Amino acid sequence: MKKTDRVLITGAAGFIGYYLAKRLLSQGIYVTGIDNMNDYYDVRLKEERLSLLLSHTGFTFEKADISDGKTLGQIFQKSRPDIVVNLAAQAGVRYSITHPDAYISSNMVGFYQVLEACRHASDEGGHRVSHLLYASSSSVYGANKKVPYSTADQADHPVSLYAATKKSNELLAYAYSKLYGIPATGLRFFTVYGPLGRPDMAYFSFTQKMVKQETISLFNYGDMYRDFTYVEDIVTGIVNVMGKAPAPDADGVCHKLYNIGNSSPESLLSFVETLEKCLMKEGVIQEPAKKEFLPMQPGDVYQTYADVSDLERDFGFKPKTPLEEGLAKFAHWYGDFYGREKERR
Ligand SMILES: NC(=O)c1ccc[n+]([C@@H]2O[C@H](COP(=O)([O-])OP(=O)(O)OC[C@H]3O[C@@H](n4cnc5c(N)ncnc54)[C@H](O)[C@@H]3O)[C@@H](O)[C@H]2O)c1
Repeated sequence: MKKTDRVLITGAAGFIGYYLAKRLLSQGIYVTGIDNMNDYYDVRLKEERLSLLLSHTGFTFEKADISDGKTLGQIFQKSRPDIVVNLAAQAGVRYSITHPDAYISSNMVGFYQVLEACRHASDEGGHRVSHLLYASSSSVYGANKKVPYSTADQADHPVSLYAATKKSNELLAYAYSKLYGIPATGLRFFTVYGPLGRPDMAYFSFTQKMVKQETISLFNYGDMYRDFTYVEDIVTGIVNVMGKAPAPDADGVCHKLYNIGNSSPESLLSFVETLEKCLMKEGVIQEPAKKEFLPMQPGDVYQTYADVSDLERDFGFKPKTPLEEGLAKFAHWYGDFYGREKERR
């Protein structure tokens, strides 16, 4: 990637978007961030991330919804991005069972509008987008039994609407690459965690329950495996991929998919024990959590396990942060952030 490249990130006040923007800004790259600041989870976290980004002179923020095509087009005309990274989405597997509308609006209509904005960016002397990256998810592997999950495997048995929208994004991006020559890369993320993370994710909600001394529920009786990936590793992967738009495939289409995950699944139970240890060390909790063991929930998958050999081959990169190190950073941040919150009250 060139220092002069201008980058547009959707979902910039989100967890991964914030870390990506921060990394690029620290390298002197100009970033425009879009976010609608919705209240799917505690908006104070989004505001905190945003205020950290706004302290950089190279950062411009646009509060907008990606499903609003007209506004999106205007932002593209103004910011003239070389590279677009679409991270805005309605995330979460379980929420998609009760709130399907949010997924259709942000993940389907919103993603379509991002594709349209890329397609029309160069109209009337405008600026061409040279690479579109977009977030997909390990959830597209759905009920697949074969592990590790490879992008060469079929992934057309989603077990949630969230997964179905992410798989649809991959198909839409492929079609836009083929029809309009937009080079695009889809990144299938595997359970990303870290400081300033998402409260709807297990490691965060477990922590909140542990602090309140409430019982935590381990589904499938704790017998589930996740390929937890530290957020800074994900960002390194995204930045590497940003610098190299895909070459045309055998059909002349510049579209590629990669898994980004640790490639080392942890059992839910050992994950919780590591989290407890880190939180106790930071003084966030004083004793291990009370646990209840429950059956599998609809939409959940038994195991996620990334085959990242393509990423390693094409970019010489593989996530590497051990869970213990990443969770220690999360526990440290949590104690600090919520300690400060308590003082403010
Ligand atoms: N965190 C993970 O473990 C994980 C795993 C797989 C895939 N992903 C995907 O990665 C991307 C980023 O995830 P995250 O963990 O940072 O989630 P996040 O919810 O923290 O970030 C998404 C951001 O997008 C914004 N947003 C949502 N809908 C929008 C819309 N219509 N218009 C404008 N902004 C909108 C939200 O306000 C939020 O700040 C998402 O696409 C998610 O589906 C994340």
